[in-house]
Amino acid sequence: MRRLMVTGGAGFIGSNFVRWTLETYPDAYVLVYDKLTYAGNLDNLKDVAERFQGRYAFIRGDICDARAVREAIRAHRIEAIVNFAAESHVDRSLMEPGSFVQTDVFGTYVLLEAARAFGLRYHQVSTDEVYGEVLEGASTERDPLMPRSPYSASKAGADLLCLAYFTSFGVPVTITRGSNNIGPYQYPEKFVPLCITNAIDDEPLPVYGDGQQMRDYQYVLDHCEGIDLVLRRGQPGEVYNLGTGISTPNLEVAKRILDLLGKPYSLIRLVPDRPGHDRRYALDISKIVALGWRSRHTLDEALEKTVRWYVENEWWWRKIKSGEYREYYRRQYAERLARSRPAFSG
Ligand code: NAD
Ligand code: TYD
Repeated sequence: MRRLMVTGGAGFIGSNFVRWTLETYPDAYVLVYDKLTYAGNLDNLKDVAERFQGRYAFIRGDICDARAVREAIRAHRIEAIVNFAAESHVDRSLMEPGSFVQTDVFGTYVLLEAARAFGLRYHQVSTDEVYGEVLEGASTERDPLMPRSPYSASKAGADLLCLAYFTSFGVPVTITRGSNNIGPYQYPEKFVPLCITNAIDDEPLPVYGDGQQMRDYQYVLDHCEGIDLVLRRGQPGEVYNLGTGISTPNLEVAKRILDLLGKPYSLIRLVPDRPGHDRRYALDISKIVALGWRSRHTLDEALEKTVRWYVENEWWWRKIKSGEYREYYRRQYAERLARSRPAFSG
């Protein structure tokens, strides 16, 4: 099973997964199939295209386009689909939910139909957000799905479809529910790269509400290793949580980023909260640990590597921040920042 179609492979996690797979398995062949939305970026795969000629191919296409998906599978003799393609940002799902339902739910259905028709192994990259907010304890894979944003609801819909295709049609699907990823090539709309790039420019770090919301931040390559493990050794029809098992408040993460960059805490601004903001996510990771996975990075190590990458790769993010991003940033933050207050003085 070494001929993979990686949908959404030009995004943040997908591009890290593609690089990691080609480096780790000399016999792997990877076709990236990606629509190149605002979040898809061939710069994420620039080195991959150069280093792995003959083992890597790219097709620009929409996962909702059943004919194009089938042609790609046939032409590249694909054996397995790993689906990263999604609209992935909660704040955008509050502005424009339709594209989330279309890509995350309908697109997953199209891929499952293709997997069924061609007899392919299928892996769905899902999220801990499908469990909804977890005020205490930790979510296990058997917990009910209680998503609260259009993003997490769409991802939950996709998870249920995957499990239905296993039960109804015997498609060998697995699902990983990953926690928040950080690392190279993350679009700077997400909290950690937004804080890092703003801090480098001495711009305010907008922290929602009181900053005490908690997330399990994991290093992206740990997540990629876990996905690969489930792809190779996971049980079809099963779901695996994938995270460090430790959740940290956002305000604490912002402070650690400023410490790493030698910038003052006075850059942190508490801004009006995201509507329906999930207070806490936390994962029970015993199932993936039993399969043989370990997180290789502490939060400090993950943050240190991530900050260093953004410091050393301004070529990558300055281009992004000067484009479509500007209008998004204005819409999302201009009024919030005008109504903000400092978290710390000095
Ligand atoms: P991203 O937004 O960086 O990348 C998404 C990619 O999908 C982009 O390259 C985009 O062009 C592509 N895409 C979007 N719509 C498409 C369509 N209709 N057809 C083909 N390609 C399309 O996202 P990410 O952060 O890398 O997340 C990847 C996956 O992992 C998503 O499914 C997300 O739900 C899941 N996930 C993300 C996190 C996280 O912290 N970022 C955590 C857990 C799970
Ligand atoms: P985000 O990176 O958007 O991921 P998700 O909402 O999918 O977990 O946000 C991570 C956390 O940071 C979340 O609790 C929301 C918070 N946050 C802020 O406080 N300020 C921001 O500007 C953003 C984008 C997020």
